[in-house]
Amino acid sequence: MAHPTTVLVTGGAGFIGSHTAVELLENGHDVVVVDDFSNSTPAALERVQKLTGRRVTLVEGDVRDRALLGEVFAGHRIHQVVHFAAKKAVGESMQIPLEYWDLNVGATVALLQVMRDAGVTDLVFSSSCSIYGDAQRLPLDEDAPAAPTNPYARSKWVCEQVLADACARHPELRVLALRYFNPIGAHPSGLLGEDPLGVPNNVMPYLTQVAVGRLERLPVYGTDYPTPDGSCVRDYVHVVDVADGHRVALGHLADTPGLRVRNLGTGVGTSVLELVNAFEQASGRRVPVAPTDRRSGDVPALVADPSLVAREWGWRTRRDVAAMCADAWRFQQLNPFGHAS
Ligand code: UD1
Repeated sequence: MAHPTTVLVTGGAGFIGSHTAVELLENGHDVVVVDDFSNSTPAALERVQKLTGRRVTLVEGDVRDRALLGEVFAGHRIHQVVHFAAKKAVGESMQIPLEYWDLNVGATVALLQVMRDAGVTDLVFSSSCSIYGDAQRLPLDEDAPAAPTNPYARSKWVCEQVLADACARHPELRVLALRYFNPIGAHPSGLLGEDPLGVPNNVMPYLTQVAVGRLERLPVYGTDYPTPDGSCVRDYVHVVDVADGHRVALGHLADTPGLRVRNLGTGVGTSVLELVNAFEQASGRRVPVAPTDRRSGDVPALVADPSLVAREWGWRTRRDVAAMCADAWRFQQLNPFGHAS
C-alpha cells in the first residue's frame, strides 16, 4: 500500500468525491474536504464518516476563493490533492457556458496557484471522456484526438491544457488527469450514492427515481443512432471502481513528473435500452421508457480502451453493469430522497 498521506479532496461531498473519500480513509489516508454544497449536502460526508468510522475535516467554501484555499494549505499538512469540484451537466453547460468556464477553469487555475505557493506538487484531476467527443473509432485510447462537443467538455479539455502549461513551467509538478467514462452505481452498503439536487440530468439517477415512483418514465434520448439498438452507447463504470482508481493514481504520482492523461473505463459499451433492461433485472421493477428526440450535445457511442492503466498500474475495474444497477437501486430504495432521507 502507498504511504498514507493527507489528501485535499475538492468537491468531496459530491458523487465521486464522497466515494473517493471513503476509499482513501479506508486505506489509511487523512482527508480534508473543500465543498460549497452547490450540488451536494453535508449529509453525504456524515455517511462517509459513518461508513469508515473516521473523521473528515470539512472546509465549506468555493475553490476559486484563493484566500480560503491558502488557509486550508496553511492549516493542514496537505500532501496530495484530488480536484473534483466542478459543474458537470452537458445540457446545462449549453445554457450557462460562462458559469462553466468560470467555475471549471477558474477553480483549477486558483488551485494550481495556491498549490504552487504552498509547495504542493501532487494532483489528480477529474477529467472526462467527453473530451473525445464524436469518436471516429472505438475503443478510445488516450491518444484519440480531442473533439469536445459542448461547453462542459471543452472546459475539461482546457483544464488539461492549463495543467500541461503549469507542468511545463513547474517541472516539479506531478499530475494525473483521469478521464472517466460514465460513473454510475453506489456504495454497496446503500449508505452513499448519487444524490443530485433537482431533476436528474444523468441516466442512472433518473432511472432509479422512475423505479421508485418519483418520476413517471425515463426519456430515452434518441433511438435512431447508428448503434445496434438505436440508443446511445456508453462505457458505464462503477463509482467504487472510479474511487479505487483515484487511490491507485495517488500512489503512482511519484512515478514521473509532469502531466499524464489516463482513461478510467471498463472497455464495455452498454446502450441506454440495455441499461434499462439490466436495471429491471437487478431491481425486479419495470421501468417505463419514453423514446424522445436526441439530446443536443450527445454523441452516439463512447467506450474506453482501459489497457494503458492495466499495463502501467496492473489496475482494472472489477464491477459489471449488473452490480452497478443493483447498488444504485439499493441506495435509491434505502434513501428515496437522497442522503438527507
Ligand atoms: C456526460 C459526459 C461525461 C460526463 C457526464 C457527467 C459527454 C458525451 N459525456 O455523460 O463525460 O462524465 O456527463 O455527468 O459529454 N440519457 C437518456 N435519458 C436520460 C438521461 C440520459 O436516454 O434521462 C442517455 C443520454 O442520451 C446518454 C446516456 O443516457 O446517451 C448517458 O447520459 P448521461 O448519464 O447524461 O451521461 P453522458 O451525457 O453520457
